[in-house]
Amino acid sequence: MRILGIESSCDESAIALLEIKNNKVKILKNIISSQVNIHKKYGGIVPEIAARHHVENFFPILKEAKINFKKIDNIAVTYGPGLITSLMIGVELAKTLAYVYQKPLIPINHIEAHIYSNWLSHPELFNKKTFPALAVVISGGHTNIFLMKNYGQYQLIGQTVDDAVGEAYDKVAKILNLGYPGGPIISKRANNYKGEDDLNFPRPMMYAKDFNMSFSGLKTAVLYKARAEKNWNKKKIDKYCFAFQNAVVDVLTHKIIKAAQEYKVKNILLGGGVSANNELRVALKTKADKLGIKTHFPKLKHTGDNAAMIAMAGYFNKKRAKKNNFSLMADANLEL
Ligand code: KG4
Ligand code: ZN
Repeated sequence: MRILGIESSCDESAIALLEIKNNKVKILKNIISSQVNIHKKYGGIVPEIAARHHVENFFPILKEAKINFKKIDNIAVTYGPGLITSLMIGVELAKTLAYVYQKPLIPINHIEAHIYSNWLSHPELFNKKTFPALAVVISGGHTNIFLMKNYGQYQLIGQTVDDAVGEAYDKVAKILNLGYPGGPIISKRANNYKGEDDLNFPRPMMYAKDFNMSFSGLKTAVLYKARAEKNWNKKKIDKYCFAFQNAVVDVLTHKIIKAAQEYKVKNILLGGGVSANNELRVALKTKADKLGIKTHFPKLKHTGDNAAMIAMAGYFNKKRAKKNNFSLMADANLEL
């Protein structure tokens, strides 16, 4: 089966073509046109600008991909959640292509696609034995822990009560004047630091009984301490990054492992931009290995927004494929 994926929920315009045969995934095309350099100067994404650039970017990447539409079976498109005007561009493009080439359209939930990004590079997951699994989506917009009972069956068991973890990375980077997006810069600066973590940032809600998390208080703690700081130097900034990241990794690994034990899962699947974080990967794997629980992370190039994961999610949602689905609408607040 050949599936074309289209993604435009935030600031990445992306298309991909997957071929899936006997549970083997071939990524034939995977093109991402990122707007990160455009939004950098605003310190975050400006929705109106993002939507305008999606309009400009999709046609060149479609041309570049040279898709033979005769040979594709379905078109999968993100219809939520995300920025409404950005989502609309991808959905309308997908509807147009589906109409012109008379192909069935599969509506995709972006959060579910981040989970399925693991199937792009871990063939062993194509198995009912994978479940029950814990699926954790950590990105700029989401921090969700799901119990995944089977393909397409999710129970939300924990989430952030305020900022998403990626959002906290981005805001802390802004406080420390490090630029946007914050995750990769903070993690690099944290790696530079050799020394003690004596800043004692809080780990909000870490020991609360449920699996919910909070990152807004941690960000504010960084802000207050940074404001009181007099003599900044490179090493001190590195230390702030190190201490902030330690707090994030402590909370996330604690909550994920606790949930994995409570729900007796065999596998933990991570997805989303923050799942690129190496410290988090190592800390989680170390703890999970000791308990005999397997951890799975997408390839680094599939952690951020991409359309290969949308096509992958399309494969598992192929029952939802519909021809002439012109009533499909973007839904900014779509839930999983
Ligand atoms: O999944 P994604 O590309 O877009 C959303 O759906 O939000 O995630 C973007 C987020 C940003 O907040 C970015 O700072 C964060 O992922 N991020 C990271 C790393 N790389 C990207 N956070 C921590 N460590 C990283 N290495
Ligand atoms: Zn995303």
